[in-house]
Amino acid sequence: MHNLVKYNQAWVFHQGFSSDLATRFAAGEDVTLPHNAVDLPYNYFDEADYQKPFTYQKIIEWDAAFEGKEISLIFDGAMADSVVYLNGEQIGAHADGYTAFEMRLTGKLNDGENLLSVKIDGSENPDIPPFGDRIDYLTYAGIYRDVWLKIVDPISISNIKIETANELTDAKSVSVRCDLYNPQNLAVSGIVKVQMLDLDGILIAESENEIASNSATVSFSGLKDLSLWDVKNPTLYKMAVEFSSGACHDSVADDFGFRTAEFKPDGFYLNGKPLKIIGLNRHQSFPYAGYAMGKAAQEKDADIMKNMLKCNLVRTSHYPQSKYFMQHCDRIGLLVFEEIPGWQHIGDEGWKQTSVDNVKRMIERDWNHPSIILWGVRVNESADDHDFYTETNRLAHELDSTRQTGGVRCIDNSEFLEDVFTMNDFVQGQDELPYVNHGRIALRDQQQTTGLKDIVPYMVTEYNGHMFPTKMHDQEDRLAEHVLRHLSVLNASYGDDNIAGCIGWCMFDYNTHADFGSGDRICYHGGLDMFREPKFAAYAYSSQCDPSDEVILKPVTIWARGERNICGVLPLIVLSNADEISIRYGDTVAKNIKPDYANYPHLPHPPFIVTLEHFGAEGMGEWGLKWEGAEVIGYIDGKQVASHVFDRDPQPTTLQVEPDETILDDQQEVRVMVRALDQVGNVMPFFNERIHVELSGPASIIGPSELSLRGGTTGFWLRSTGGKGSISVSVIGERLGTVDVEIQAQ
Ligand code: GAL
Repeated sequence: MHNLVKYNQAWVFHQGFSSDLATRFAAGEDVTLPHNAVDLPYNYFDEADYQKPFTYQKIIEWDAAFEGKEISLIFDGAMADSVVYLNGEQIGAHADGYTAFEMRLTGKLNDGENLLSVKIDGSENPDIPPFGDRIDYLTYAGIYRDVWLKIVDPISISNIKIETANELTDAKSVSVRCDLYNPQNLAVSGIVKVQMLDLDGILIAESENEIASNSATVSFSGLKDLSLWDVKNPTLYKMAVEFSSGACHDSVADDFGFRTAEFKPDGFYLNGKPLKIIGLNRHQSFPYAGYAMGKAAQEKDADIMKNMLKCNLVRTSHYPQSKYFMQHCDRIGLLVFEEIPGWQHIGDEGWKQTSVDNVKRMIERDWNHPSIILWGVRVNESADDHDFYTETNRLAHELDSTRQTGGVRCIDNSEFLEDVFTMNDFVQGQDELPYVNHGRIALRDQQQTTGLKDIVPYMVTEYNGHMFPTKMHDQEDRLAEHVLRHLSVLNASYGDDNIAGCIGWCMFDYNTHADFGSGDRICYHGGLDMFREPKFAAYAYSSQCDPSDEVILKPVTIWARGERNICGVLPLIVLSNADEISIRYGDTVAKNIKPDYANYPHLPHPPFIVTLEHFGAEGMGEWGLKWEGAEVIGYIDGKQVASHVFDRDPQPTTLQVEPDETILDDQQEVRVMVRALDQVGNVMPFFNERIHVELSGPASIIGPSELSLRGGTTGFWLRSTGGKGSISVSVIGERLGTVDVEIQAQ
């Protein structure tokens, strides 16, 4: 059997590196993986703190179960440059921080104790992508994903590749290629049996094939009454593969789906039907914890993209991300554009070879995910390099003939070697002063950027970002402008059939190097802040969803007379998928306000722009007159579907403490959001007071337990430390009192 044991416990972590790795370091810190070598502060830190070597050690006890088996360790991810030693002898190395690697221990383990040492070098080694020049993100050192101990028979399954065909007919086909791991080069003479099941375990089809070399394929055809995988109903099936040859047996399983995905010159087609892509770029970073976040936190990010932001695609900028993230995208129906590590810079021939290897490692890890619709085989925003990118494209097509390739560029007229021209279009704001909203160029026509005479499959892979950094607690005028810039691009994308869709920069704010960001080592480019708390711009995305999914009504204001330039709250943007709104200001009511189709004709749900004219002659009063509260109401077909109330005089009333989950599995993280709310439930954007967190039970807090609200909100993650029981969290605000929440660890 394919025996994989999670190997995250009982590691000892050391600062630095000693050449004598045959002995255990005298002192060290007991740690559990995933592990971040250095927890940086929230901002204003020195990233050089993690750009050095660290060592992880672990004792591997000889186990009778190892006898006659192939033994190896699988590292899901370690940053950046790993060298692995067993009992002082180097057994392997891996020069990439984002892909998995396997270290074979067979024949090298002694009876009794064996000392495993893993040197992780967090330096920005110019031989390894993405390094060699500046990059706008951090690459936090550490063994930041899971490690597994694999115990298998001398011949076992190394990987399976599931490929579907005839997806859109009622006689679907699927084939499974089973590749063997046979390091001792033993003769193979056996059988591969495959069962296709639904996710309830009901058998749909089974078949088998002989295997006499290190690979064999089993195929199914004429499969009837199956469902397609799509963004609304992401139906998955399971392939369970069993191999046996003589005394060697192994079995593995993976999920897959039936779907077609094709970028054409006139847009993207999922299962033969046009689908406008609306997405955001995601880094895999978290405050304090860097990259070291496990399954639950990864899944939560996918949920936020799909269920809160209502996006249909995520780009894993700029590297392969956690397999837990990918698996969850499959489950919830979130499309993925995955790409190789890199940022603008191309290194020497050795560097390029590592990059080509990364194409292989990325595709071979992830080829069964139905959510992945495009491979990014170009270093993000790099210059043209004919031979290099001819090779990455060739290899991607050889490994996977079912998916198209893209390669994100920012230079116009660059050489088109991929199937899809994927372009970062930061045109908006380039030749305009801020605060000019209408009539701006939001996206260019594809031929202006491709320079090609033909219309080709084309997608915009970044916009906004550094062109308009916006903090949660920025002034309302800026927050409103931020919203309009996102809306303008979405409108342009929806209005151009030659653009498959657009992917904004970016999902959430992120820590970065001093060369970028706001001087505090944060790029405030997100629709969400670092804790994944939405800025108003987040609702530019969510309000495009169908109201049957969720009714969205978000007035883009904090409702104060003197916050904006000049004064007042008009013109007021209301982001909503209602078909009409009204607004009551004190006793004055403005009714029958319709979406702004004139300026945003292509959006599924244009914003409402409330102006003084909607209020008639009395208006909303002028500077110096009485200030009132308000209620914004949304209607669909004349019926009220949502309302948002503002008080004229917000008072700090409630400390809201909201954990994402109240039940937690072992070694999992849970996010807890904290917000200062006024008497009608609105966040108080300038309530930046101190929050103190106390904790008891089997969990620890990631980052400091003294926090300050920023823009009226903050958050923290708890990590369960093992063991069952109640985790009691007290969140103490100086003026808002104490709120206790309980989370059960199981
Ligand atoms: C792009 C780059 C992203 C990010 C973004 C900021 O040029 O691809 O990684 O730096 O700019 O807007």
